[in-house]
Amino acid sequence: MSFAIAIDGPAASGKGTIARALAVYFGFHHLDTGLLYRATGVRGGDPVQAAQSLTAEDLTRDDLRSAGAGQAASRVAAIPEVRAALFDFQRRFAAREPGAVLDGRDIGTVICPDAEVKLYVIASDEIRAQRRAAELGADPAEMLLQLQERDRRDSERATAPLRPADDAVVLDTSDLAIDQAIAIAIEIVDKAWNRR
Ligand code: DC
Repeated sequence: MSFAIAIDGPAASGKGTIARALAVYFGFHHLDTGLLYRATGVRGGDPVQAAQSLTAEDLTRDDLRSAGAGQAASRVAAIPEVRAALFDFQRRFAAREPGAVLDGRDIGTVICPDAEVKLYVIASDEIRAQRRAAELGADPAEMLLQLQERDRRDSERATAPLRPADDAVVLDTSDLAIDQAIAIAIEIVDKAWNRR
C-alpha cells in the first residue's frame, strides 16, 4: 500500500525543502507540483495546450526557478482547464510505491484528499521574502511585494485556492532553523507511518 504526504503552503514557506528532506529520509518519490505550473507558464501560447502537452524536458528548463516563472505559473494556475490537465499525472504520482511526497497549493485539498499526512507550512511574509531574496539574489522589498501578489492570486482564485485542508497540521517555520522544521516534519510522518 502506498503512503502519500501532502505539503501545501504559500511561496517560500519552506515546504519544498521540507518535502525534499522527507522524501530522502523515508525513501519516497518527490514531486514539486509548482514546477508543472511554472513549465506551463513559461511555455507561452495557449496555457491549456501547454499543460496538456508537458514533457519531462519542460520540467528541466533552467529558468523555471525565476520570479518571473513564479508569476507566470500563478496566472496559468487560476485556469481550471490547466489544473484539470495536470490532475491525473499528480494523482498517479501520489500512488507510487512505497510512498510519495507532493508539495504545492492544493495537494491536501484536491489532489490527495486522503493523504496519510497533510502539512500546511507557513512563515511570516517578511521571513519568506528574505529567504527568497537570498536564494535568487534579489531585493527583499521587491520580493515581498511579489510574494504577496502571488499569494493573493493563489488564495483568491475560484478553483483549488491555497488553503489548509481541515485535517492538515500547520507548521509555522518563521522562528525555526530549517533543520528544526525538518525534524518536526519527520516526527509527524513517523507517527502516521507507525499507526498505518
Ligand atoms: O510552489 P511554486 O512557487 O513553485 O508555485 C508556483 C505557482 O504555481 C504558485 O504561485 C501557484 C501555482 N501552483 C498551484 O496553483 N498549485 C500547486 N499545486 C502548485 C503551484
